[in-house]
Amino acid sequence: MRAGLTALLLWAGLAQAQEFTTLKGHGGPIMDIAVSARGQVASASFDNSVGLWQGRVPRWLEGHAAAVTVLAWGPGGMLASGGDDFAVRVWDVGEVGHEVPPDQVRGKLNQVRDDVGREVGRHLGKVAALAFAPSGRWLASGSWDGSIRLWPLEGGAARDLAAPGAAVNALAFDGEDRLLAATAAGEVLVFDLTGDGPPVRLVRHGFGVNTLALGDGWIAYGAVDGGTRVVDREGREIADFTLDRRPILAMDWHRGTQRLAVGDGQGYIMLVDTQDWRIARDFRATRNGPVWALGFGPEGAMIYAGGIDDVAYGWPVESLDRYAPGITGERSFLRAANEMGNGERQFMRKCSICHSLDPGPSRKAGPTLHGVFGRRAGTVPGYPYSGILDGSEITWSAATIDALFDAGPDHYIPGSKMPMQVIAAAADRADLIAFLKTATKGEADQ
Ligand code: HEC
Repeated sequence: MRAGLTALLLWAGLAQAQEFTTLKGHGGPIMDIAVSARGQVASASFDNSVGLWQGRVPRWLEGHAAAVTVLAWGPGGMLASGGDDFAVRVWDVGEVGHEVPPDQVRGKLNQVRDDVGREVGRHLGKVAALAFAPSGRWLASGSWDGSIRLWPLEGGAARDLAAPGAAVNALAFDGEDRLLAATAAGEVLVFDLTGDGPPVRLVRHGFGVNTLALGDGWIAYGAVDGGTRVVDREGREIADFTLDRRPILAMDWHRGTQRLAVGDGQGYIMLVDTQDWRIARDFRATRNGPVWALGFGPEGAMIYAGGIDDVAYGWPVESLDRYAPGITGERSFLRAANEMGNGERQFMRKCSICHSLDPGPSRKAGPTLHGVFGRRAGTVPGYPYSGILDGSEITWSAATIDALFDAGPDHYIPGSKMPMQVIAAAADRADLIAFLKTATKGEADQ
């Protein structure tokens, strides 16, 4: 009976996994997707959070103070994330077994468990690359500040590797003591971790290398100019899949199915069979916009992808061709830009990615602007403000919002989590404020 029930639930789980899926809930674009060895899907978003998905039900990991840009799974349900706040965090999330019926875990998963994460340290720039050593002894992180750091997970001091000479875009361990790094200077470097010496250059591509995937004895990389190449451990070319698409932004490899997925700036996902090095499928995943995030689901049966939409999508690999493009890329313009007034266009281009205009909680990176006029700064209930806005004396009005974007948040509210930006033209600020006055009105005021 018990075995029968388990088999039934497993079967139900697989059957569910064979359908096109949308993972909805994030309040901003999807920057990265990572799937654990046991099939746990994690998504990193511009909304400052990490989503852990059980079926289509998210559980949120909060802790980053800016967009989460990269994720990596380590052994034993350990998840690492890096962000635009320059921080590297580790979450000991455990893993949800496939055999648990979704109804029973739903309640638990919805709880925000901000107690499980910890910051392991910081770089001086965006964290763009993460990789766990196979043993889980080290977490390696790479940053746009041009540094690579090894964090010992069992305690002890972090170790800086010899500077790679450029921003780091991707990292991958090839065994316990060999770390590969892809840089914005167009190189793939190899660090021998048993010593402190400088890295050896494996590939000199010329254009920035954005992404790496490691297979059995081969390394695939994708670059800004569209270069999509596979080399052996000595850097000799095995295959070249460069098409007329650029940039290459994301890759993932699934050992069981021997499939390499490649996502690009034009919204295609190409699947390469890594046994005989031929293109198995080529699929337009988005109507518009890039594929920033890619990850194979359990058994390699699903491919998950994300980009400019707030939604991550999952397609069954075997029937990819049946589906119309998922990612619409139309988030920022509900109407064509030329049909909007200047104020609305300012808002759509410069604010809407982080701010909602609707009442109630949103999952965007910033607090809702609904009812912002006459509101004391730092007072949207439940929103985790930075110190400068929490308890601030500012009340938002046409004059203070004008000053905010005349000076820029870095001057007007220094230390704020809102990125620096100035709206230089007074007329643009005035149009934006006029638009906000109507668009942020509470129903009672109208
Ligand atoms: C990349 C994300 C991002 C963008 C783009 C952005 N904001 Fe923000 N904004 C934030 C965050 C995060 C906060 C909270 C800041 C804090 O806690 O320090 C914030 C706070 C604010 C506040 C204060 C709200 C309050 O409750 O006190 C206002 C007003 C605001 N933003 C207006 C705007 C406008 C108008 C634009 C477009 C011109 C804009 N923001 C663009 C992220 C953003």
